Amino acid sequence: MQVTTTIVEYQKTIEQAALKNPKIGFVATMGALHKGHITLINQAKQECDLVVCSIFINPTQFNNPDDFATYPKTIDKDLALLEQANCDILFLPSVEEVFPKKQKLNSYSLNGLDVLFEGEKRPGHFNGVCNVVHRLFQIIEPQKAYFGQKDFQQLVIIRHMSDQLNIGVEIVGCKTAREANGLAKSSRNLLLSQKAKSDAGIIYNSMMKAKSELEKTEISKLILETENKLKKIPNSKIDYVSIAETSTLQPINKRKKGQKIVMLVAVFVENVRLIDNLMLNE
Ligand code: PAJ
Repeated sequence: MQVTTTIVEYQKTIEQAALKNPKIGFVATMGALHKGHITLINQAKQECDLVVCSIFINPTQFNNPDDFATYPKTIDKDLALLEQANCDILFLPSVEEVFPKKQKLNSYSLNGLDVLFEGEKRPGHFNGVCNVVHRLFQIIEPQKAYFGQKDFQQLVIIRHMSDQLNIGVEIVGCKTAREANGLAKSSRNLLLSQKAKSDAGIIYNSMMKAKSELEKTEISKLILETENKLKKIPNSKIDYVSIAETSTLQPINKRKKGQKIVMLVAVFVENVRLIDNLMLNE
């Protein structure tokens, strides 16, 4: 794997690639990689000629400077995982390389998608995500970019931005990688005790149960039943459980014919905030 830290170096690497006009698949990350990230690399490997991964802890998406400063950094382990996955190029830039001081941040019109759920208590978070993803697209120039359904709202917002600006990158949503008990893989799981990790399997099970009852149960009842199951996780506190339309993320009370819907959950377990979601009718 070639490691590039500047735009010029990255461009040279692409020019020197054996293939002319290779189909580039891009996976954007903030590092602290785990097997969930690697599933995106694997999918990109199958569909593209060259796979580029970026590791960049994006300052513009943090509301709290402490969270930015303390974001986990495990670069040696990340490099080993990427090598093992046969990633072709790692883009590992400085903040100044991605956001030169003279360049202003963009303000994206996100149609209200950014103020719901994960955006509600983090004003500006998704605008920061759009700024970095847009900028990285301009640098990497991929044909396809891979994002996890694990962060469903982020995926919807990136799709929206891409469509609005006609960016010309195909956005691919990738299935959530899970532990054997259903818990979505996340670097945050490391903060959980073994017991909590096992208990947190209830999150996926409760969503699966809601999915299986969709045809015969009212939306409000499905939400209530899911909440009741989540409450059984020791040391936990529900932040939200909602059922929403998949493209607008508007919560629904009643299902319309043909409507695609998703259950979105955020729950604190041992004070660690876990998010997950499940498409209820795909
Ligand atoms: P990060 O949290 O590092 O995640 C990078 C990508 O990995 C995202 O697309 C995320 O949805 C995906 N991912 C995380 N856990 C996953 C899992 N269990 N299964 C499948 N995919 C998973 O998300 C970000 O970084 C940043 O906001 C970023 C998009 C890089 C912009 O800074």
